[in-house]
Amino acid sequence: MRETAVITGAAGGIGAAVARRLAAEGVRCVLVDRKPELAEVAAEIGGEAVIGDLTDPALSERAASIAGDELSLLVLNAGMNSSDKDPATLDLDRYRAVVGVNQHAVVWGLRAALPVLRTRGGGSIVVTASLAALRATPQDPIYAMTKHAVIGLVRALSGSLAEENIQLNAVCPGLVDTPLTAGNRERFRAAGIAVLDADSVAAAIVRTLRSGESGTELVVRPDLPDELYRPAPLP
Ligand SMILES: NC(=O)c1ccc[n+]([C@@H]2O[C@H](COP(=O)([O-])OP(=O)(O)OC[C@H]3O[C@@H](n4cnc5c(N)ncnc54)[C@H](O)[C@@H]3O)[C@@H](O)[C@H]2O)c1
Repeated sequence: MRETAVITGAAGGIGAAVARRLAAEGVRCVLVDRKPELAEVAAEIGGEAVIGDLTDPALSERAASIAGDELSLLVLNAGMNSSDKDPATLDLDRYRAVVGVNQHAVVWGLRAALPVLRTRGGGSIVVTASLAALRATPQDPIYAMTKHAVIGLVRALSGSLAEENIQLNAVCPGLVDTPLTAGNRERFRAAGIAVLDADSVAAAIVRTLRSGESGTELVVRPDLPDELYRPAPLP
């Protein structure tokens, strides 16, 4: 049986780098993104492109059905930033778009894939969270809220899924040089702020997919070793 992966947000950045790594291992890759450039990444790696908006649960259903019975790996990675700092002046369309992809699309992805993973007896899932999932991020509170939600979901679900041989883990990168942050590249450079490259985050995601562990939160930062985050016990 050929391993098959669904990778969301794969038109560029971290998702495309994960797809390249998995394809190089011989995994069949079903790539999902709303950007038409997705087709080029899919053609490059011999994968399949599913282009559309992940805030619609039907797109995750479509991707899972294209992946078929051999689906065993899932990387829920699509996401976007917000630029709203103050709820009083929130742009409602942007708010719905950010929560829709960062938070709801993770649930839609699980909803579509879990029945297949259960039928085949297991699988491995990684969600791309962020350092913003683990600490206060005043520069983007709505983004931070959605990433905290994703970590909450991983913490709540990973134990019971592990009993079904389904691993669910989160990878939490610091700043990464991708299309998401490209607008700030010069500012980061001028301020001496170190950023990760997309492929090192992809390597951490693939390693986590293969780790056999569940419920982990892997922190990935520039110039530091990758490290599992373990929340302090409640007082
Ligand atoms: N770049 C960073 O500094 C950084 C840091 C921590 C976490 N992350 C997370 O990593 C993940 C990947 O981001 P990236 O940095 O590679 O950026 P990216 O912009 O290259 O990738 C995100 C992809 O998600 C897609 N996407 C967004 N909304 C979508 C929607 N509604 N439907 C379909 N596709 C949609 C975009 O088109 C894009 O291709 C995101 O979840 C992001 O929050 C990024």
